[in-house]
Amino acid sequence: MPFEFSKEMEARFAKVLEKYPAEHKKAALIPALYLVQEQHGYLTIDGMKYIAGRLDISASEVLNTATFYTLLRKEPHGRFHLQVCTNVSCFLRGSDDLIRMIRDKCGIGPGEMSDDRRFSCEEVQCLAACGTAPVVQVNWDYHEKLTTESFSTLLEELQSREISAPEGA
Ligand code: FES
Repeated sequence: MPFEFSKEMEARFAKVLEKYPAEHKKAALIPALYLVQEQHGYLTIDGMKYIAGRLDISASEVLNTATFYTLLRKEPHGRFHLQVCTNVSCFLRGSDDLIRMIRDKCGIGPGEMSDDRRFSCEEVQCLAACGTAPVVQVNWDYHEKLTTESFSTLLEELQSREISAPEGA
């Protein structure tokens, strides 16, 4: 089924468009792609074509932008995407324990997604918060100075949180 915005996303898209003059609506490209990602979980070719149509730009222009920004996902992720920094500062302060905990509690390792699509995990290189290592980014939120206790509490909270899966996850 071809992608289209849900009612809620359509309303949010309209708000995004309000910020730009009609003749420059292509300036809304990145926020529009984030809305697709939020609704669908990641960017599909259909979703990118849809945005190209809505902003009157070419599909290749959308694809170029989507490819350039690593925060725009081109593959399915879990509802909670756990990005664990394993660079030096975080490694020295126990990032490997955090990865181990994700394996134990969520049953996945880096590059994997849980069967219920609640969690996915990725190892990343420096989240630019070395002074508060170890750091895990969950979707858009940073969790810093983590200990095994605080990370365990965080994972339990995410496990129990009521969610609706993204439609394309
Ligand atoms: S090394 Fe982890 S945030 Fe920089």
